[in-house]
Parts: sequence; structure tokens; C-alpha cells
Amino acid sequence: MIIIKNPEQIALMRSAGHLLYDVLQYLASQVSPGITTEDINRMADEMIRKNGAIPTELGYAGYPKSICLSVDDEVVHGIPSPNVVLQEGQIISMDLTLSLNGWQSDSCLTVPVGEISQKKKELLRITEECFWKGWHQALSGNRIGDISAAVQKHAESHGFGVVRDLTGHGIGREMHEDPSVPNFGAPGHGPRLKPGMTICIEPMITAGTWRVHELADGWTVVTNDHQPASHYEHTVVIRPDGEPEILSLPDGGKGRELL
Ligand code: MF3
Ligand code: CO
Ligand code: CO
Repeated sequence: MIIIKNPEQIALMRSAGHLLYDVLQYLASQVSPGITTEDINRMADEMIRKNGAIPTELGYAGYPKSICLSVDDEVVHGIPSPNVVLQEGQIISMDLTLSLNGWQSDSCLTVPVGEISQKKKELLRITEECFWKGWHQALSGNRIGDISAAVQKHAESHGFGVVRDLTGHGIGREMHEDPSVPNFGAPGHGPRLKPGMTICIEPMITAGTWRVHELADGWTVVTNDHQPASHYEHTVVIRPDGEPEILSLPDGGKGRELL
């Protein structure tokens, strides 16, 4: 069941989203060779709590840390560890969910560690572009499949893979609500978008095969061919006027209309 949010509830989700943006920007500024993923986890946890929010990934289905940090061939759900020391040339996805005053926001950035290869730069750029292509379809009256198809088309037309095993999702009081928002599919299919719907659009894009598997730790998802993967996510609301606003960006996504 898709839960429609009213304007007061959207305002609370916007506050959560803007805090989440600040946290992710701070974490991105701290990424550099030599730092461990546990260092980033600690900074995330501290900044979230200092601002009166809760890191809701901690304990979610038993997840042991406050943020998901996935390096290179890790697609999602990498577990922060003092043994993972970031190295020049790697890419790291930082996927973070928090709740503020009972309302969740979920966003993910993939950033370079120092200088990275041209191939990785293109992977990061196309993954973000996939998000924007999907976002442009997030209009009242369109269907979820319109978002899915736009993401898939952009990735595959650049020779990249689209992960099938994980999808975007609705969000609100819960981290994961209906509907599912796949990054692959056909236009004109799936639930119709309506004002007050809040969804996470989160392309997970691979340099090689889209096939993935879970490691023995029960969480970390890696590409089968161990080529790098990238992930980019925002929390989006369909506004009363039928247009999308990004709740996890302070400007709501303005200025990206022409991408
Ligand atoms: N933030 C993730 C998402 O985009 C979910 C994290 S899984 C958890 O849906 F176990 F870490 F919570
Ligand atoms: Co997320
Ligand atoms: Co999500």
C-alpha cells in the first residue's frame, strides 16, 4: 500500500532530507586515502545524533553499523571496518538513512578517493545522470516504469550494467515502503505517480556485468566480475503541482530541469 503524505508530513521529511544532505556533504569532504571506513561510520553516527536525528540503518534487519560504505566492486551494504583503509584510485559509495522527528530520508553518493581512472569517472557521471533521467519522469500521472526505463536506457546506452537484485522504494515513517522503484523495466507499467508520494530513486550501475552476489558476511553485495559499481540516491516527493522535488537536496533539484 502506497502511503500518501500531507504537506505537514512533507515538510518534516524535507527537514530530515536537508540534514541528511549536510551529513553526506561533510562525509564526502572527509574521504581521502588513509582514512578507514570505520572512521567515516563514526563521523556519520556522531553528526546525525548531534543534530537530534537517528541513524536508522543501525540495527535495521540486524545491520551492524550506522552507514553503508561500499568500495569499488562492492555495490551496496558494505560494512564499515577499521580494517578497510581507503586507497588512492578507489571509489566509495556512502548510502545513509536517518530519521528526524519520526520521518526518514535516504540518500547515497559515490565519490572518488583521490585521483581515479577515466573509466571510473565515467561510471560515476553516468550513474548520477541515470538518477536525473529517472527524476525527470517522476511526474504525477506517469508510472514507476517510466522512471525505471529512463534509468535503464541511459546506463545501457553507455555500455554499463543495471543491477536487478535491488531496487528503489517508497519512504516515509519507514525506511522502506511501497512502491518498489526498479532501475529497469518498461515505460507505462507499474503504479501511477500521484502528489504526496515519496520515493527513493537509486540507480545501482556497474562497469561490467550487472550480476551480483552477497558475501559471506550476509550483507555486502559485490559484482560477479569484480568490476566497479556506483550508486546514487535521493528521496523525492511528487509535489501538489505534480512536479518532483528532491527532499535530500537543499535546492530541491532546481536547475537540473534541462539535463
Ligand atoms: N539505505 C539503503 C537503501 O537505499 C538501505 C540500507 S540497508 C541497511 O534502501 F540495512 F543498512 F539498513
Ligand atoms: Co539508501
Ligand atoms: Co534507498
